[in-house]
Amino acid sequence: MKKQDSVKPGEARQEGPSLRDELLADPTPPPEALLTESYEFSGDNDLGYESYISPDFAAAEYEHMWSKVWQWACHVDHIPEAGDYFVYDVGDLSSLIVRTTDGSINAYYNACMHRGTQLKQPGSCGFSKDFRCPFHGWTWSLEGQLVDLPGAWDFPHVSDGSHHLPEMKVDVWEGFVFINFDQEAEPLQDYLGVLPDHWKEWDLAGRYIETHVRKHLPCNWKAAAEAFIEAYHVRETHSTGNLGDEVTTQYDVFGDNVSRFIHTRGLNSPLRENPRTEDELLSHLSGRMFGKGDFNLPDGVRARDYYAQIVQEQMGEKYGQDFTELSESVTLDSIEYFLFPNAFFFPGLSLPMVYRFRPDPESIDHSYFDLLFMRPRPPEGTSPEPPEVIELGIDDSYSSVDGVGALGRIYDQDTANLAAQTRGFKSSHKRGQTLGNYQEIRVRHLQERVREYLQT
Ligand code: FES
Ligand SMILES: [Fe+2]
Repeated sequence: MKKQDSVKPGEARQEGPSLRDELLADPTPPPEALLTESYEFSGDNDLGYESYISPDFAAAEYEHMWSKVWQWACHVDHIPEAGDYFVYDVGDLSSLIVRTTDGSINAYYNACMHRGTQLKQPGSCGFSKDFRCPFHGWTWSLEGQLVDLPGAWDFPHVSDGSHHLPEMKVDVWEGFVFINFDQEAEPLQDYLGVLPDHWKEWDLAGRYIETHVRKHLPCNWKAAAEAFIEAYHVRETHSTGNLGDEVTTQYDVFGDNVSRFIHTRGLNSPLRENPRTEDELLSHLSGRMFGKGDFNLPDGVRARDYYAQIVQEQMGEKYGQDFTELSESVTLDSIEYFLFPNAFFFPGLSLPMVYRFRPDPESIDHSYFDLLFMRPRPPEGTSPEPPEVIELGIDDSYSSVDGVGALGRIYDQDTANLAAQTRGFKSSHKRGQTLGNYQEIRVRHLQERVREYLQT
């Protein structure tokens, strides 16, 4: 173990080139956003396990956090036409999102203004020309106007003025429909921090949902999200997979709500005693995506650069677009932006995921993980409609899903630890977790942000 006592806490880095140096050595310059760095040491105290296992903590999250944060509820492709609606739930909170007659998007609290009945079922979506309550038939237009009140003679005290459907905040970023249950919330654009600026060169709105998996996980929603927020686990958790060498990772926290890691692929690990040859690196890379192909590396060309070209060509053919201008990093690397509290967006070409984590209202020890693969829209014609959600139970493997492919094994490895970790939260003599100053800064950031909401 190398002694790092000459530097202040948080300043030490793994030996070897920095991620920035690696990106600058690529033949194609990376987007400016990937060259930015934003890390600050924010303490090394243990963080108590109560945030995962205390029912009071979970109740406070619903009351003080989930009711106040911006969260993506659906995609614009889920509600393309007037009358299309989508119900998004988190715990007992439920929003009814609808495409209105003029093509804009409204979001309502999903509850009748008469005696509370939910207007649409949890998790449902579809088409509705209006919102008619199934109990007594009070009916609202898509715009939230009270348009029918059976037995109106008995309700002289009720009118559209008093019983219009209350709206919640709604806005769209890059094709994702965000809602906020708090009518006083800051605008989404402010909440997003650096995201719009960093993503200006990446066209997330130009992607459609190719695959959507929803996995039930045996752990608290934060433990689930945190399993994907650092690459420190890669060497151990994925030691039998083909990720093991890829350990150059940069971690950033940008303001209140955004954090990021960038994790290179196709380069040698400085920790490896016998560095891989470029041919070995190439077969390692290609095994991941297209199966072991017959690729012959031209003399003097790095595996990373050659393989980036192959990916650009194959994806270009498949999706009918030209990707040859993309940098090697955007083509290959795992670039992961987190938006507090529960969403991850990947701008990369070959790793084009979006994640969302939500608590399971039935159990603090369970959560739901939405895993989306987003692909470039066809240049002409309409994009495919969003696919049916593939529901996976706790014991189901991601590998059973076609669209997940070889990554299924990696996701299985990521989630195999979670039940054991959850049991350990309860059996540990030490009552909190100890985090790495740099590699686990995003875990600390998430945990501290949750606590900040609970304190206000
Ligand atoms: S509860 Fe909705 S109409 Fe009565
Ligand atoms: Fe992982």
